[in-house]
Amino acid sequence: MTTYLMEDPIEAERLEIKTKREKVQRELEYVPLEPGYSVLEVGCGTGAVTRILSDELSLGTVVGLDFSLQRLQKAVHMVRKEGRKNIRFVCSDLLSPGLGKAKFDLAYSRCTFQYLGEEGGKKALKKMKDLVKPGGRVVVADVDGVCLFRTPVDPVREVYLELLFSKLEPTFDAYMGRKLYRMFLESGFKDIRVDLLPYYLIAGRADPTTVRVWEMKVEIIRDHLDRIFGSRTKADEVANRFLADFEKEDVLLYNTLFIVQGVS
Ligand SMILES: C[S@@+](CC[C@H](N)C(=O)[O-])C[C@H]1O[C@@H](n2cnc3c(N)ncnc32)[C@H](O)[C@@H]1O
Repeated sequence: MTTYLMEDPIEAERLEIKTKREKVQRELEYVPLEPGYSVLEVGCGTGAVTRILSDELSLGTVVGLDFSLQRLQKAVHMVRKEGRKNIRFVCSDLLSPGLGKAKFDLAYSRCTFQYLGEEGGKKALKKMKDLVKPGGRVVVADVDGVCLFRTPVDPVREVYLELLFSKLEPTFDAYMGRKLYRMFLESGFKDIRVDLLPYYLIAGRADPTTVRVWEMKVEIIRDHLDRIFGSRTKADEVANRFLADFEKEDVLLYNTLFIVQGVS
């Protein structure tokens, strides 16, 4: 059983407010979704992306898998509230999915591999490969640089972030996006395709929702910050320096989303 760095009662709310329909729809343009497809979404959280996926599938079905019962309860609640019939959720670790002989047309995962580390990611890819039909497709979309890229450069911030990320590995990999291609290659996928999209692109002051999402993220990893930076006071200084950037007119922050896919 693996653990999730962002495990926290407020994570469900963070996932719901951070998911923007237009953004996910733009990403899904790179995912070959045919009418009637059966799709597995690995690491579905509260199902915010699962619901968008299901809208793209005429008469198709989606199974969302996650190991958090709390987030899945929220997912089930939302699906019932919206009267959706083509979504089912499974509470399970993605490394032992317990889906029996189920075979999907496509297995998809978004923003989850960054929490698995390279070794965990490779195991997850193998499981996803086993769960698609022969000739089926596996798609993994993940972030590269967690609002790490900033101009103008703030050297102190860079040092803090590099220390933070090195200490969080393997429970968090800030550069997972760029590693996916090689992981697909080493896992024996055919016809590998790589696409790159902007994920966060913040020029000047960020909108209030984005600021809130980042405040929640910092809140959730607060204990890790204390541990890594040695005290609450130092952790606060680091967190405040990072969060202040979202309010600055003269700062540009960005990161990217790699979408990598291959045929089993
Ligand atoms: C950041 S959320 C991604 C949610 C959604 N896919 C999205 O793009 O917003 C990552 C999810 O992966 C789940 N997760 C992480 N490791 C897992 C594992 N080993 N097995 C099952 N789910 C896992 C977490 O519980 C969490 O809900």
